[in-house]
Amino acid sequence: MQQKQTPRRWPRLALIPLCLAAALAQAATDPLAPTARWSAYTAGRATTPPMGWSSWNAFGTDIDEAKILGSAQRIVDSGLAAKGYRYINIDDGWATRREEKDGHLVIRADRFPSSTTGGRSTFRPFTDKVHAMGLKAGIYSDLGRNTCAQAFSGDNTDLPKGSVLEREIGLYGHIDDDIKLFFADWGFDFIKVDGCGLRAYGADSAKVRSGEYRALKPVLDLESVSRSDIPAVQAEFTQINAALARNNPDGDYLLSLCVWGAADVRAWGKNFGNLSRTSDDITPNWARLLSNFDSAAKRELYGHPGSWNDPDMLYIGKGDFDAAHLVEARSHFSLWAMLNSPLMLGADLRSTPAALMDIVGNADIIALNQDPAGNQATLAYDADDLQILVKQLASGQKAVAIFNRGLGPIDADLNAAHLKLRNDAPITLTDLWTRADTTFTNETRIRVAPRETRIFRVQGTRLLAQGVYLSEQPGSVNPAVDGVTSPQADPTVFRSSAAWSGTKGAGERPMYAGWGGARADSTPYGQVLQVAGAPFPAGIGILANSRLEVRNHGYRRITTQVGVDDSARDRQHGVTFMIYGDGKLLATSKALRWGQPAQALSADVAGVKVVELVARSTAVNNELLPVTWGAAALSGKAD
Ligand code: GLA
Repeated sequence: MQQKQTPRRWPRLALIPLCLAAALAQAATDPLAPTARWSAYTAGRATTPPMGWSSWNAFGTDIDEAKILGSAQRIVDSGLAAKGYRYINIDDGWATRREEKDGHLVIRADRFPSSTTGGRSTFRPFTDKVHAMGLKAGIYSDLGRNTCAQAFSGDNTDLPKGSVLEREIGLYGHIDDDIKLFFADWGFDFIKVDGCGLRAYGADSAKVRSGEYRALKPVLDLESVSRSDIPAVQAEFTQINAALARNNPDGDYLLSLCVWGAADVRAWGKNFGNLSRTSDDITPNWARLLSNFDSAAKRELYGHPGSWNDPDMLYIGKGDFDAAHLVEARSHFSLWAMLNSPLMLGADLRSTPAALMDIVGNADIIALNQDPAGNQATLAYDADDLQILVKQLASGQKAVAIFNRGLGPIDADLNAAHLKLRNDAPITLTDLWTRADTTFTNETRIRVAPRETRIFRVQGTRLLAQGVYLSEQPGSVNPAVDGVTSPQADPTVFRSSAAWSGTKGAGERPMYAGWGGARADSTPYGQVLQVAGAPFPAGIGILANSRLEVRNHGYRRITTQVGVDDSARDRQHGVTFMIYGDGKLLATSKALRWGQPAQALSADVAGVKVVELVARSTAVNNELLPVTWGAAALSGKAD
């Protein structure tokens, strides 16, 4: 016997370190393993949504120094600068060529006369002027070799000139040099990185076939998330992140991702930049506002301090948002503020009427947008014609916006439950346009005109006096792994026709991936959170095989009731729910299947910085297995 055992023992002993190494390696590659950290982007300077102005909506590529500095001057003179509008961003249209000998970018000297004062083409005199005004300066580039205007403009007047290579002014192949040039040499503080270079220059595109531009295999496909090469796009942003960190030792920079909701960026943009576009371009049309708003409105858990959803710049000043449409202009501003969208003005401010300047200067609404808690509003009521958005502020007070999307007036019933306030204590609403106060108990009726957004600050008694529902503080909850295995277009985003394509073709398709993502107070597919027949008005809905990171701002206890959501179509697989505190396992549920009642989980999180909520299953099709962190709440704050 002994002789037989001996030879077995050696290999077993020798295997131990190997097994350990394998376990460690698995932990490192297991996306559900706790990390004890907040993984969304916090580099750069965007603890609150950036505010400022961009040249694109007002001028397109027809830009010059006088136009840009003129708008900057109005920002200072009107008092908007003092209210937080700070970034003065040059969009597409500034470059005339890239020097073939050393890759240096050349600015259009006829449009930016100060760029020639230093010998080599330079924006330094421009950024010096902007900085001297107490403002910050932003620049534009593209992930590919060429920009969006080069791809889509029918008129070459404002586009780069010279050979094919000289006209390649995008970042592709030049990331390190260009980022150094923009930030270290020219002194910019912000960069918007567009994606047309990775989208519009396929070998079969007209401008490539004509020899105007070189082909670059498209990896971004706005119409089809499955045709996009997500890792290829992420790889470029990884390089850009590294170059930004290298060239901004003081950390004073902002990175704006502009891939318009393509390549499922709504799920991962938060890991790579300070703001990430959730949709294609806004136009000055009401229908387009609905599309852009919708592309971000159900992504409340994907926006946080440092990593904001960006439904595009404000179009206040033109078309449906001009001075003859103050209701629409106020709605646009109120909604963008509630979404924690960047507040980037897009009008020629030199001639913007006072009535519109007053709208974008509403200090109370700006304060909602800039609230330090960074909680994007959540949808407390959602229908195609009317929505109620509620935003929890750092003070514990709330804001509410009642948005009439439709054509007729609506009498909206706003109640304490929408606000997660007690229905037996007075609730005071302060109208942020008229400053009028009204007080009610439990429920009140509010008339909302067509296209109007009524917006109020709210004072009441919170349902959880000693704590906070996680769904009240989406800015502190990050779906690090949301369980989505095959991104699908969100069918609830309003499909407006695009101004640039008219009504050619067969119509607009659902296009922005995001369907099935994590949600506050809703399942990933918009159903009520419910486990074994018990509904949860508050909670987080997410798919199985997911990991949520939760910043703990000094609370002592986390409590929740977990289970497979009744809306799950997978009735076989069990899901185990785990709570970690700074990487340590604190609580585990049984393996719970569909139809089993929710199990209460609770853990002491005193002193814990990052709580992680993991829902693990052997199921592979997570999309069939929504799970519910019912009534998930932190409580017992230390004084
Ligand atoms: C894209 C972007 C716009 C703007 C233009 C410039 O369309 O989405 O915001 O930057 O390119 O060409």
